[in-house]
Amino acid sequence: MANIIVGVTGGIAAYKAAELVSLLGKQGHDVRCIMTEAAQQFITPLTLQTLSGNPVYTNMFQLQQNPEWKVEHIGLAHWADLMLIVPATADFIGKVANGLADDLLSTCVMASQAPVYFAPAMNDQMYQNPLVQRNIQTLRDAGYGFVDPVEGNLACGTSGKGKMASVEQIADVVNTLRPQDLAGMRFVITAGPTREPIDPVRFLTNHSSGKMGYALARQAAYRGADVVLISGPVQLEAPYGVQMVYVESAQQMFEAMQQYYADADVIIKSAAVADYRPKTVSAQKIKKTDDDLTLELERNADILAWLGAHKTHQVLIGFAAETNDVAQNALGKLQRKQLDFIAANDVTQTHSGFGKDTNQVTLYGADGSVNALPILSKDDTANRILDVAIAYKTKLK
Ligand code: CTP
Repeated sequence: MANIIVGVTGGIAAYKAAELVSLLGKQGHDVRCIMTEAAQQFITPLTLQTLSGNPVYTNMFQLQQNPEWKVEHIGLAHWADLMLIVPATADFIGKVANGLADDLLSTCVMASQAPVYFAPAMNDQMYQNPLVQRNIQTLRDAGYGFVDPVEGNLACGTSGKGKMASVEQIADVVNTLRPQDLAGMRFVITAGPTREPIDPVRFLTNHSSGKMGYALARQAAYRGADVVLISGPVQLEAPYGVQMVYVESAQQMFEAMQQYYADADVIIKSAAVADYRPKTVSAQKIKKTDDDLTLELERNADILAWLGAHKTHQVLIGFAAETNDVAQNALGKLQRKQLDFIAANDVTQTHSGFGKDTNQVTLYGADGSVNALPILSKDDTANRILDVAIAYKTKLK
């Protein structure tokens, strides 16, 4: 568990810092808060002290709160494994980008050897202002991190990009402190269902939620990998630090994969790709008649089989969601598609498969290995699959 400084500056989103401190505390982290003077116009130190269970630091010149630290801002900066500036106002971003340090929070940021992330929150036009953008770029170039704001309703009554990222997304940054054992590796992962259009208002699809593929992408990125996530239409937030490529149909997923596969070290195909698509797509909405309707379907490319035939150095991992004869079907796909591993699960089980938060997967390797994982969260399952992939890749080198 990490020592985290939450630095609060003076914006209306300051109240969300309280939620963040509470969440980080529940996750078992030790949190200390520093507030600027302006932040205290929005929430009180007492709120953050109560939620963090630690003293709140507000003033450079108050008497020492921690006698073991000779100089408070240096002691605090050394104590922290991570600093999160939540919210980060245009003023505070500008101050740090220009090397100013005239209060406790800015001196701490300046003295910190730990990673510092800013979560900007401001009016959308302020955010787009070239001076603010220049300051953000200066900080990025100097190695500071950002949890970018999102589109949404803003306090000023307008809507646009400037709303602070969710506290869950900001809390996710802690995961970047994990050992970077996948640094320098490139992962291409697919997730979610595909949509095969019938006419402008209808399509064929399946129950895939994308949760397993997103968990793989998220965990690989936390562990330092360079990740491209080719995603079908799902209701999930883009994982932090992942390059997203959004597609709809199997054909679009295939084209995206052809663009990215050559440079990949590991390819994981967790998407549920439609095997067939309507042979003709009506340009207009198909109207009902009294007769039955027959849809003629034609085959989509098997992306994974294509990858199996074209791979050079890539470790190739497929998924097999089965309802019966799980092992036999999975081993057949492993062989037919020339995979290195296949992750098989029985989607009829209550703890596995579409839309669930847990999964129970068995990983079969082309080397004859069988790795039966217990019921785990999809994030834990993802890490176990990544462990197996990386051990195999290292052996190949
Ligand atoms: N897959 C793919 N392209 C397709 C169909 C499937 O890349 N057109 C990939 C999936 O992403 C998954 C694996 O192949 O990693 C197995 O998918 P699945 O639908 O279980 O296998 P199929 O080969 O389609 O076999 P079947 O539908 O007969 O079970």
